[in-house]
Amino acid sequence: MASGFVSRLKQFDAYPKTLEDFRVKTYGGATITLLSGAIIVILFLSELAYFLSTDIREELYVDTSRGEKMKINFDLSFQRMPCLYLSIDAMDVSGEHQLDVLHSVFKQRLTTDGQPITEEKPQPVEMGTGPEGNETTPTETAPAVVVKDDVCKSCYGAESPEIPCCNTCEQVREAYRIKGWAFNNPTGISQCINEGWTDKIKDQVNEGCNIRGYIEVSKVAGNIHFAPGKSFQQHSVHVHDLQSFGVKKFNFTHTIGHLSFGEDYPGQLHPLNGYTQVQQVDLPTGGLMYQYFIKVVPTIYHKLSGELLRTNQFSVTKHSKEARAVAGHSGLPGVFFMYDLSPMMVQLTEHRRSFTHFLTGVCAIVGGVFTVAGMLDGMLYHSARALRKKIDLGKAS
Ligand SMILES: *[C@@H]1O[C@H](CO)[C@@H](O)[C@H](O)[C@H]1NC(C)=O
Repeated sequence: MASGFVSRLKQFDAYPKTLEDFRVKTYGGATITLLSGAIIVILFLSELAYFLSTDIREELYVDTSRGEKMKINFDLSFQRMPCLYLSIDAMDVSGEHQLDVLHSVFKQRLTTDGQPITEEKPQPVEMGTGPEGNETTPTETAPAVVVKDDVCKSCYGAESPEIPCCNTCEQVREAYRIKGWAFNNPTGISQCINEGWTDKIKDQVNEGCNIRGYIEVSKVAGNIHFAPGKSFQQHSVHVHDLQSFGVKKFNFTHTIGHLSFGEDYPGQLHPLNGYTQVQQVDLPTGGLMYQYFIKVVPTIYHKLSGELLRTNQFSVTKHSKEARAVAGHSGLPGVFFMYDLSPMMVQLTEHRRSFTHFLTGVCAIVGGVFTVAGMLDGMLYHSARALRKKIDLGKAS
């Protein structure tokens, strides 16, 4: 009964074997076997590498998240702009202003050839508003400015509730800024003379500056700019006092080491990293205004581990124009990043590749290569035999 079933099962064999006695092993066949084995190994490895890589799927949504903050990370070097001159301002369409530098931004003085000046560590730059900023300000410059609390020096008419006393040159500048006055003539202000403000400017005139750090802004359109002079609001217009340095020309050659809006996700591209812009135009006054128009694309990245990263990508176009810093001309020399948010959001999701697809691929490789190799071998064998027969016939006749 059992042997009957087994003998019937034989009929289903799709691979009937030929008798060993009729098989011939040839050198050609051996070569083709080795070759096809190598091909199978190579194809298998590439299939394996593909299987082990993660699949990233991209989807597009309308961005419905709201009320979030966005981090702007930057690392800029100015080859010909001393740190003393530069201020960083951020403002957006909601009317929110972050005038002059913040606690999360570091300035590093650079020599003319771009080497950091190491005598001082990069200092966090304080907002400097209010007289309480005074206690934390290191007074290394000159003993003349070591200030006792009961001393209250004049602000030259710029006293305000925020700054009732001006004990340092910086505070006079700040008081002027709050009043909306231009700080034109440091030589007439005793605090500045005591501190050697003009000498400080002269010392640094050939230096460069590296500014790096991050600022947090609302997720609305706005701009962040790096420009000379202290900035202030005057009749609701944003103004920089360019005259305070006694310098008329600015060379805004710069290198963007890094610029990103939020954290990095694996494989992110930074279109501006490593970009250097040399100012070729030599203007009698002012300098060039470099504008980078940036479209920020909100991005969500889902990792395999289930971790979720909310960040942003961006695309950029750039434009430069002359800013002569004289009446009748608009614009301000400096580097401006004007950003705008895209309403579309990109979602990137990591997926593992399917194991069954991998198995199918491997079977196709092994089977396919063997079949093709078998056909090739058959062709070679038969044509060789036919040729030999013809040669034998030719000899016989
Ligand atoms: C500005 O500085 C850069 C870098 O040092 C220099 O190559 C360029 O010629 C300068 N431009 C002008 C107009 O002086």
